[in-house]
Amino acid sequence: MKTANDIRATFLDYFAKNGHQVVDSSPLVPRNDPTLMFTNAGMVQFKNVFTGAETRPYSRAATSQKCVRAGGKHNDLDNVGYTARHHTFFEMLGNFSFGDYFKDQAIELAWNLITKEFGLPADKLTVTVHTSDEEAAGLWRRIAGLPDERIIRIPTDDNFWRMGDTGPCGPCSEIFYDHGPAVAGGPPGSADADGDRFIEIWNLVFMQFEQRGPDDLVPLPKPSIDTGMGLERLAAVLQGRHDNYDIDLMRSLILASADATSSAPDGPHAVSHRVIADHLRSCSFLIADGVLPSNEGRGYVLRRIMRRAMRHAHMIGARDPLMHRLVPALITQMGDAYPELTRARALIVETLKLEETRFKQTLERGLRLLEEEEARLDAGRALPGDVAFKLYDTYGFPLDLTQDVLRGRGRGVDEAGFKAAMDEQRRKAREAWAGSGEAATERLWFELRDELGATEFFGYDTEVAEGKVTALVRGDARVEQAGIGDQVFVIVNQTPFYAESGGQVGDTGVIFSPGGAEVVVTDTLKKLGAVWAHAGTVTKGTLKVGDVVELRVDGERRGAIRANHSATHLLHKALQDRLGEHVTQKGSLVAPDRLRFDISQPTPLAPADVEEIEKVVNARILANSEVVTRLMSPDEARAMGAMALFGEKYGDEVRVVSMGGPHGDLQRDYSIELCGGTHVRRTGDIGLFKVVSEGAVAAGVRRIEALTGKGAFAWLEQRDHLLTEAASALKVAPAEVPARVAALVEERRKLERELAELRRQVAMGGGGPQSGGGAREVNGVKFLARVAEGLPAKDLKPMADDLKKQVESGVVAVIAVNDGKASVVVGVTDDLTGRFSAVDLVRTAAEALGGKGGGGRPDMAQAGGPDGARANDAVAALEAVLAG
Ligand code: ALA
Repeated sequence: MKTANDIRATFLDYFAKNGHQVVDSSPLVPRNDPTLMFTNAGMVQFKNVFTGAETRPYSRAATSQKCVRAGGKHNDLDNVGYTARHHTFFEMLGNFSFGDYFKDQAIELAWNLITKEFGLPADKLTVTVHTSDEEAAGLWRRIAGLPDERIIRIPTDDNFWRMGDTGPCGPCSEIFYDHGPAVAGGPPGSADADGDRFIEIWNLVFMQFEQRGPDDLVPLPKPSIDTGMGLERLAAVLQGRHDNYDIDLMRSLILASADATSSAPDGPHAVSHRVIADHLRSCSFLIADGVLPSNEGRGYVLRRIMRRAMRHAHMIGARDPLMHRLVPALITQMGDAYPELTRARALIVETLKLEETRFKQTLERGLRLLEEEEARLDAGRALPGDVAFKLYDTYGFPLDLTQDVLRGRGRGVDEAGFKAAMDEQRRKAREAWAGSGEAATERLWFELRDELGATEFFGYDTEVAEGKVTALVRGDARVEQAGIGDQVFVIVNQTPFYAESGGQVGDTGVIFSPGGAEVVVTDTLKKLGAVWAHAGTVTKGTLKVGDVVELRVDGERRGAIRANHSATHLLHKALQDRLGEHVTQKGSLVAPDRLRFDISQPTPLAPADVEEIEKVVNARILANSEVVTRLMSPDEARAMGAMALFGEKYGDEVRVVSMGGPHGDLQRDYSIELCGGTHVRRTGDIGLFKVVSEGAVAAGVRRIEALTGKGAFAWLEQRDHLLTEAASALKVAPAEVPARVAALVEERRKLERELAELRRQVAMGGGGPQSGGGAREVNGVKFLARVAEGLPAKDLKPMADDLKKQVESGVVAVIAVNDGKASVVVGVTDDLTGRFSAVDLVRTAAEALGGKGGGGRPDMAQAGGPDGARANDAVAALEAVLAG
């Protein structure tokens, strides 16, 4: 028997042999189509290749594409478990030609694969073509040799495939397998075509047009091919089964569910096992692709699927959370074909467990309430909307879960009543904040939050994505469009731009609209914790609400931010290890060019501390281990030893980022922190870490600034240049610079000392009458004055004392001029202090020097003045006083 894995491999090998590039499945959340909730066909990732907007290095491709049909336009959720072929998750096998081959080769390749490689008998196959497509009918006749009665012309849109309201499209041809007369149903196009006898297995779309608007159908640059074959259906046919849930892959999951709950796979809980098997796949793959349960958008679709599965686990009687225990079985089946499942294993297991643990707390009580309410209703009467709303609001029952419970009992829900109750609750909330007295802008953001819901953030996985403009804000007002030069906030339904939070700065980049508008985004902010506001200026064209735009983050800048953020985590841990547990985060800035980290720490870090921290962080960088992100409850995270901010309010679930350990092993990881920021994939991506400053910011708070990667390298390079320059100026080898500088400093100190001594000697030793010389008699009093350049002021008093001794009885003055300014000391020998006061005299001298004041004792006083050039005038002034 060919297993589903064999069939997938055979399909891809076959097309590889026929010149096709095998391309990985794209993520379930389309990056290139903001109007699509989940990827629902293989061609989604090639949409722009068909229209010519994007080119690839190949013109033929084959994929096995993960698809989810739940929540959006195609919603199969309600039917899963009850029918043979509905899934929320399935795999679409497809081959594609981008302007390479067209109808004839597409038909030939398909026919050969299913009849020769897979060996399906030709007489079990029937095809359809669009009525307008005689060419395709002729090709089926010629290539497959099918008789005319098994080439059925269909006039309806069933045979004209469209991706959506817009996008590539064209007539299509479907291949049906006939399960034989034992199964009820007629061939396609017949009255009983809806029966299960003829099952469509493959759809070949002859892509020829692009739908640009309701009446705007333009030919594609080149005719192309897009095909899609459900792997589960094909496997059912090839394994001789009629029900997709009987194929090996689905069966193994059903058996895992039966085994884990000790219940029979095909017994009374058969439907529940099928639901669980299907939902396990969609939930796990969605989580692996970055969707996490929430109350809005894609996250809410995931939550609905999870809770529906959990209700079925409850019905089977599973006491403990079940879904997460089935993940190993899924990975055994599908982990080889989709390595992202294995990579995200921990995240999937923990997310499922957390959701189920939490939902269990209200599930039982909700079910009891539902039963009581039902008991009051007449048979067949719909459950009142307000009860369904209470179940939703208080017990966390999504509407479709309540519907699923009632479905088995032939009862519906008053959906209009449910919606009215929901609207009423929102109206009350609106009224509450309308009256809260917030400023006009704040009210505007409340309004946007209420109307548009939260922006979905893709930036953990991608830096380019499409989004739909849901609002534009200029100043305090919403506008419908913005033109060149306008400064606006652009709001979109989904974005790869990180909005400033947790110390990490907002992303910058560019937003392009297909109409030619361009907005240069200079910052991204998060309003009310939910609405991403891209702040920017329109530089080209006109941007309108409703435009589908491409959002491009400045990738280089973001790369540097990631490195700095991850380095901050390693730094935090290294600081704690080195300095002690008292170290807590007091502030953090993660910018592209640097990181700044404030910690509670009373004393400065010693150079040895900084060195050790740098060494440890760089060792963790070199180890290049994986950076792992998980989602868990705050309590669990703390139990793991995650570093969290005290006093911070956290939601029900927290994102935990761990790194630096041996193999991304949470138990043994080096740094474990609660964090919503963006990080490198592996620590090696940080490159290099260097602390560049350490200082105080407030009492008990130290600030560390550091660089990573290129920035750190540039900084070290600059240091190296400085050292080389210094070495060359000193004419020594760089290694000898410190010793040489120390020697020079010592030498200079010595020389300065010698110079001062020499100057003193010169000053004491005399010169001309005005710069010293011998004492002269003025009015019978000996007067000795010295003026000297470059004498330290502190030397003046000892000098005046010496001079006093020289004259024995008299008045002395020493004036030193340094940098143009003068210091002056006047001394009066004791026998004369009755006649002259040194204080009065020094004031007179100071005045002549352009200064004021001066002080000391009658026998010795000191003053200064700004005008050193007038030192001789000061001497003359003193002489004049003595002369009376
Ligand atoms: N895109 C086509 C489909 O989804 C093949 O059926």
